[in-house]
This record gives sequence, structure tokens and C-alpha cells, in this order.
Amino acid sequence: MTDVILSVAGITKTFPGVRALADVSFDVRAGEVHALMGENGAGKSTLMKVLAGLYKPDAGTITLRDEPVTITSPLVAREKGILLIHQELSLSPELSVAENIYLGAWPTNALGMLNKRKLRADAKAALDALGCDFGPDVRVGTLSIARQQMVEIARAQAFNADVVIFDEPTASLTDGERRQLFATIARLKSAGVGIVYISHKMDEIFEITDRITVLRDGQVQGTRITADTDLAGITRMMIGRDLASYFHRAREDFRDEVLRVEGLTHASLFSGVDLSVRAGEVLGLYGLVGAGRSELVETIFGLRHADAGRLIWKGQEIPFPTPRQAVDLGMALVPESRKEQGLVLGMGGRENVTLPHLAMFSSAGVMDRGREREVFDTYRDILDIKTTGPEQPVEKLSGGNQQKFVLAKWLCAAPSLIILDEPTRGIDVGSKSAIHELIAKLAEDGLAVIVISSEMPEVLGVSHRILTMTEGRISGSFTGDGMTEQALIDAVSQPANRAVQEDIA
Ligand SMILES: Nc1ncnc2c1ncn2[C@@H]1O[C@H](COP(=O)(O)OP(=O)(O)OP(=O)(O)O)[C@@H](O)[C@H]1O
Ligand SMILES: [Mg+2]
Repeated sequence: MTDVILSVAGITKTFPGVRALADVSFDVRAGEVHALMGENGAGKSTLMKVLAGLYKPDAGTITLRDEPVTITSPLVAREKGILLIHQELSLSPELSVAENIYLGAWPTNALGMLNKRKLRADAKAALDALGCDFGPDVRVGTLSIARQQMVEIARAQAFNADVVIFDEPTASLTDGERRQLFATIARLKSAGVGIVYISHKMDEIFEITDRITVLRDGQVQGTRITADTDLAGITRMMIGRDLASYFHRAREDFRDEVLRVEGLTHASLFSGVDLSVRAGEVLGLYGLVGAGRSELVETIFGLRHADAGRLIWKGQEIPFPTPRQAVDLGMALVPESRKEQGLVLGMGGRENVTLPHLAMFSSAGVMDRGREREVFDTYRDILDIKTTGPEQPVEKLSGGNQQKFVLAKWLCAAPSLIILDEPTRGIDVGSKSAIHELIAKLAEDGLAVIVISSEMPEVLGVSHRILTMTEGRISGSFTGDGMTEQALIDAVSQPANRAVQEDIA
């Protein structure tokens, strides 16, 4: 099928100080999955928000099934058959699944009253069509991210959407949930729905998309048939150069042990975890999403209570710290979720980076603005953060650029141990290698680094040593030539209860 359902031409959108989209033309065909790619801040989400009625373009036309349309609100977009599934999910947690599906368009009876029965029945039909394992009455806040996503997709079903847009849908899904999502996408596709798919995960792009359009600085660089291109070609279009080397592993001259935990146990999350990391060393923690890695490091950092275990910090056993004490000791934890844990969205980048470390930037109660600005500039350059200036509120930044500020904030504390939880989630390929370089440099400078990653090439590329974690237990330990893709796959797919300490060298 090659019939175009939706096309846009000459779309331009400017925000104060930023030209987010410049003369963009793009189309979506029935029954295709069309990838939209580009660096952080390239304009992908903005273009999709224009289609979904969230932003009004400064210029340009949108054509839906050969008819020019004006999309003035999300409700209009939905009525016209365009549905956006957001980068950050946007459901109302207090409302039921059915209420969320029809939010803003609740069916009413002849008297204008909410027709609850119809609401439920219609929602149930939409959920059933998608094979969901939950009903219309469940409160959305109690569902996993993946199920919340299904609720959003059920909207597409309920409103008979012709075009469904996914903006980085797999960022927080487990592997199984991701497979389920791909099956749903395949189902939509065979029903003739046109799908726009945004992701920084190259493997997904090559697996499920038919065409790829690349945006750069708000301009279309070109559209390719997925089967006719490759990773290098797309990367070049995205960042305008070849990625010379992806990884730069730090030297292996480790110094004293910084952190050791023994027998760390949390009744419901993980048990009997032993690990240690030395100054100058990058320890990778690999596992599938849901294996307990985030919970483990949160416990070390004092965000969760340990039920058993010992913590040895720089050679001395200490009680498990509170997060404040952890920071004072010299630990930093860069969380995976920028929105809930990382940033104050209304504040500018400068404040977000420096606020937690006021002592560093003030003497006798006076802030050293120059020094603050210097630090801001340094991290903006190292991490290639796209912002109009130090005071631009971070909520105005693209998702990936927000993530970079979370990193900057913690690096700025000059810790002895830095724990990075999925440091490149939502980050484009070019900046990914900048972050990998930074990790190597931190280790060379003598920090102990723990990197949690679900991305195999990343964890293999940056780590000196890798522990695998499976269902709350350490399932393997690998160094040097033993760190291979196959070894990691085997280690995370074996049953968790197989005793594994014997594997550990
Ligand atoms: N509401 C807004 N106000 C001001 N600037 C904005 C707003 N929304 C987006 N921008 C700017 O527009 C540019 C494009 O952002 P957009 O979110 O579209 O990027 P993206 O391609 O989706 O990036 P990412 O991969 O990081 O999600 C960025 O420079 C961003 O800061
Ligand atoms: Mg985006």
C-alpha cells in the first residue's frame, strides 16, 4: 500500500529564541511505520505536537486524506483520527481507564448527562480489541507504564484513528512489554493505520519501521526506505558526520576500593548482593528492565531501606546512609527518570545544575555568579545541551536535553562514586558517544563509576567489569575477554535461583 493518509508541507514553528521546525514536509502512508529520527532537540516532538493540535504552526499546511485541515486542539486531532502517544505519558492517574480513554469526549445522553454505561462498554470493546488484561474500571494510577501505554493506544482504537504517533514509547518498558507493544503496532499496521515512530534505539528502528525521515535542527534531511539504508547512513544524516569511535574505555589502573556491599538484601526486590568498585573503575550492571538494578543502587544511596547487608565505604564499615548522608560521603546517583527525580522543571538549567551544591558556589553567603555560569557553560559544551541560555526553564527543553541536565547536576558535585542509571536513555547517538567519553574520563580522573544499562553495546563498551543481575540476584561477573554479548545474554536468561556465586571470578 502506498496511499498517503497524512501529509504536511512547509511547517515552520518558532519558540522564543529557537526555530524548532523550518519548512518541514513529511508524509505518512496507510499501513506503514514511519520513523522520525534526529538528535535531541531536532524538533521531532514539536512536529508531532503540531499534528496533535498542541502547538499551532507559524506556517505550513496539513492534509488529511486529501483534505486540508486545521488542527486547533487535541480533541480536534482525535476527531480527525490523529492520536499522539506522548514521550511522557499524559493520563490522569485518578481517573478510571474508561474515563481516560474518552477524556474530553465523554459520551452524553439526550439530557447531556454522562452516559456511564456507554462509556464502560465502548472502553471495554477497545481494550478487548487490543487484548488488554485489565478492565475499564481500573484506576489508571495503579497500572504499570506499559499498561498505561495500552490505555493510550486504546484511545486510538476507540476513536478509529488513522494515524497513531508514538514518541519514544519503549523508554521504560521491559523487554516483554516492548514485544507486546510491537505486536500491537503490527496489528494497527495491518489494519491500515499509518504509524509514526520516534525512538533513539537504532535496533528498534531497523526492526519495525518501513521508512525513516531524519530531522536536523528543525529541517528535514531526507527520507529513506529502511531496508535500503543502515545505521551509519542514518547517523550521518542525523549528526552530519561519521561517528568515529563509539567507545573510549578508560585505562585500567584502579586504585583503592571506594564501595563494597556484602549480602545486600531487600525482602521483595533483591537478595544476597555482593559488589565492589574501585577508584578509576567502571563497573557495569547489566540486566533486563525489572531485574532490580535500579532498586539496588537506590538502596545503596539510601533511597530504600536495606533488610540485610553490610556497606563498606573507603575501607570502613558504615551504617546505610540517608540520601543526604550519601551525598555528603561523596556518592552521586543519576536517576533514570528525569521527570520525577531529576529536575525542577520550572527552573532554568543553571539553577538546576548548581542549586544542590550551593556551598560550592558561595562564600560568606554570597553567590559567585561567574563561577556558576562557568560550570553551566562547561557542562553545556561537554554534553552538547541545546538551550537558549542558562535561565531557560528546563521544561521548555526537549526530553533528551533535560536528561543531560540531570547528568550535569550530579557531575557538578565532584563525587568519589557516581552511579549512572541508564545514562543515555532518550539521548541521541551523537551525544551518547559524548556521554561514553565522559564516563571514561570520570574514571580516568579517579572516580569509581557504576553504570546501569539495558543496552548491550553500551555496557560492553564502557565497563571494565560487568555484573549481570537477574530477578534480584547477581547472576554473573565478567571481565576482559569474558565480556561478550553471548556471555551476558546467557547470564541474564538463566533461571535466577541457580546458584551463581561460583561463576564469579
Ligand atoms: N514549549 C516550548 N517552548 C520553548 N521551546 C521549546 C518548546 N518545545 C520545544 N522547544 C524547543 O524546540 C526544540 C525542539 O524540541 P523537541 O522537543 O521537538 O526535540 P526532539 O527532537 O523531540 O528531541 P528529543 O530527542 O530530546 O526528545 C528544542 O530546542 C526545544 O528546546
Ligand atoms: Mg522529543
